[in-house]
Amino acid sequence: MADSENNSPIVHPGGMLCRLDELADPGSRPFMLRFEDGEEVEIFLVRRGDGVYGYVNFCPHQDLALQWEGESFLTPDGGRILCQAHGATFDIESGESASGPARPFGCLTKVPIEIRDGEIRLAPR
Ligand code: FES
Repeated sequence: MADSENNSPIVHPGGMLCRLDELADPGSRPFMLRFEDGEEVEIFLVRRGDGVYGYVNFCPHQDLALQWEGESFLTPDGGRILCQAHGATFDIESGESASGPARPFGCLTKVPIEIRDGEIRLAPR
């Protein structure tokens, strides 16, 4: 994996994101998904227990990236996904808006992933 301009590892459809044991529990990590046509989309993983969930790094409130500092996408207690822009929170498992200004605008966009042999991979497009 190489680094993109924002230092997130670049991954391709079907590619490996990281190993399950490389994600803290609870924890999160950003990646840059690059398609064959050069299109790039920022995504992130969230782990809670043995569950791992992938989302596009895009808050439905004002169409901004969720994290502004560091690599954390979680509330301090690790219980929800947090948009640091205006404080909206989202359910880790479903991506549904849980509190804050994003509630009228729906949920985060899921990224299909699969875990095989301890490796977290993007599901084929
Ligand atoms: S852009 Fe996410 S809460 Fe406003």
